Amino acid sequence: MKKFVFKGISILGVGLALSVVICPVVSQADASSDVDDPNYHYMDNKVCGSCHQEKLRDYQSSMMGKTPGDQVFRQFYAAVNAEGQPDGIGFRAFKPKGASDCASCHTPDVVLDAGHELSLEEAIKKGSKGISCDYCHTIKDVKVIYNPETKRYDTRLWKMVTRARGNVKHGPLKDAKSPFHKTRFSPIHTKSEFCAACHNNQEHLLSLDSYDTWKKAFDKGVVKQTCQQCHMPTGGKDRPIALGGPVRPGSQIHRHFFHGGHNADMVRKEATVKAKVRKAGDALRVDVDVTNSGAGHTFPGAATLRNVLLLVDAVDASGKPLPHIGDKKELLSPLAGVGHSPGDFGGHVGAMFARPFVSRSGKGPTGGFNADHILFDTRIYPGQTAHRSFHFSSPSSSGPARVRVRLIYRWAFKPLVDKKGWKMDDIVITDKTLTGPS
Ligand code: HEC
Ligand code: HEC
Ligand code: HEC
Ligand code: HEC
Ligand code: HEC
Repeated sequence: MKKFVFKGISILGVGLALSVVICPVVSQADASSDVDDPNYHYMDNKVCGSCHQEKLRDYQSSMMGKTPGDQVFRQFYAAVNAEGQPDGIGFRAFKPKGASDCASCHTPDVVLDAGHELSLEEAIKKGSKGISCDYCHTIKDVKVIYNPETKRYDTRLWKMVTRARGNVKHGPLKDAKSPFHKTRFSPIHTKSEFCAACHNNQEHLLSLDSYDTWKKAFDKGVVKQTCQQCHMPTGGKDRPIALGGPVRPGSQIHRHFFHGGHNADMVRKEATVKAKVRKAGDALRVDVDVTNSGAGHTFPGAATLRNVLLLVDAVDASGKPLPHIGDKKELLSPLAGVGHSPGDFGGHVGAMFARPFVSRSGKGPTGGFNADHILFDTRIYPGQTAHRSFHFSSPSSSGPARVRVRLIYRWAFKPLVDKKGWKMDDIVITDKTLTGPS
């Protein structure tokens, strides 16, 4: 006999008329799928990957699949550099002992078991498997909790996530049959709210806000896709999703790369750059428009250390640099790198798109954990365009100037990368040269 249950409340507007925001989804459930077995042990990714080989290969290459082993995360947590020496930069420099929220999203399995915050050290000792296949596929529901009066989210994981630990694997297919586990169609897996569990972080500030900025743009119709549609793309040839499974159309198969700020191809999808060179009085004026045309949230994304640099250089027809004569605001801040090594662009003509956080004592760029205020928020919101103008001396004679416009993505601020001893390659989104005025 089939039983129908109401589930899938995706947005719970605290203090709002619930009838407006609750959209129940009717799904078929077999009784066993609703049971959450606290004695269940999550299986290793390798076990799932023995049949779901493409999924395992994809996922092992992702940042989510690497955490909590990701060394950048570990060193920023422990406040140590790449050599393991304390450097005072990171979470443990701010709070040397005790539990924190870091474990919640980077090791969600054991934090949910505990039902409260843990230190990362404890979480690892408890044998966390990180964000595993089995963790994601035994999630039953996720509620986004937002209070419109205080304009704050409640992002404590154990308030948001309902699990159904056990042998039923929840996913987007209505007709999957496996010899190894039961399956269940789960609407929440196809929605952005599933990702919201970790891609929003309410601290003093909303330090991670991918879901929040996506949601606002999605509700306005500016963004049409879900997180999954961009970050778990379908396609490719028809093939099985598991050894022994039937051949399925590529349109049903979701890649598990979760490409983001560490992937050049993904980053290059995000922005389009238009530039014009003209004469403005005595000056040569370069107008640049940078549009967030490919991301469903801000550009750059949420993580507090990400930044994008626009660099503008102008030379005359003989190749001699034209002096910058514009306002100081047309020069890059020290966050673009100070010193004389390649990539130190502080003071260079250009603009930075980022949202650096500063602590109460004025230290920055820092993480959300001790952020007191935002230094500036120049990230570009979905569908929006940032306009910037730069002024150089006009070329005296000999023909039009050549202007080089570059847009570069960095997953962390260069001065921090240098201090930490991290390895980071600039991702060049655009590098073009125009001539003008004609
Ligand atoms: C609400 C969930 C959540 C919490 C809590 C959280 N993180 Fe994260 N963390 C993420 C997500 C999601 C990303 C990827 C964000 C992005 O790229 O926009 C991330 C990325 C990072 C990165 C960048 C890693 C890289 O390789 O680029 C560092 C460093 C980091 N977190 C450290 C911490 C520390 C330290 C804490 C505790 C003070 C913490 N996180 C707490 C979810 C969380
Ligand atoms: C012995 C092989 C095997 C192993 C091991 C295995 N699976 Fe599967 N899985 C399958 C097959 C077969 C299907 C159904 C394929 C189809 O119908 O196209 C499936 C389907 C699924 C689905 C789709 C469910 C739905 O309704 O959308 C998910 C999710 C899933 N598996 C997750 C996992 C996870 C997580 C693990 C590890 C804990 C795992 N699988 C281990 C063979 C396996
Ligand atoms: C259990 C928490 C959790 C859930 C659920 C989650 N994420 Fe993540 N995600 C993270 C963490 C933590 C990181 C950062 C890992 C690191 O770099 O150490 C991350 C990283 C990423 C990145 C890569 C960021 C970068 O700059 O390389 C993408 C893209 C991403 N997640 C997309 C998604 C999508 C899409 C979903 C929903 C289908 C999702 N995530 C669900 C915690 C989560
Ligand atoms: C961060 C959470 C997350 C992790 C980790 C994760 N998945 Fe998924 N998986 C999803 C979501 C979400 C979907 C459905 C996407 C949609 O329909 O929009 C999915 C879909 C699937 C499906 C159904 C077929 C398909 O292609 O849609 C299978 C099978 C599956 N995952 C297996 C795995 C295996 C095996 C691993 C580990 C190697 C894994 N997943 C890791 C979130 C995750
Ligand atoms: C319209 C496509 C699209 C949608 C929808 C989308 N993203 Fe992205 N996302 C991108 C692109 C392109 C990038 C690469 C540029 C970048 O890293 O900023 C990206 C980057 C990211 C990153 C790394 C960002 C960084 O710079 O730190 C994370 C994490 C992420 N997305 C999570 C999400 C989540 C969670 C959702 C849903 C709430 C989502 N994305 C919706 C296209 C999309």
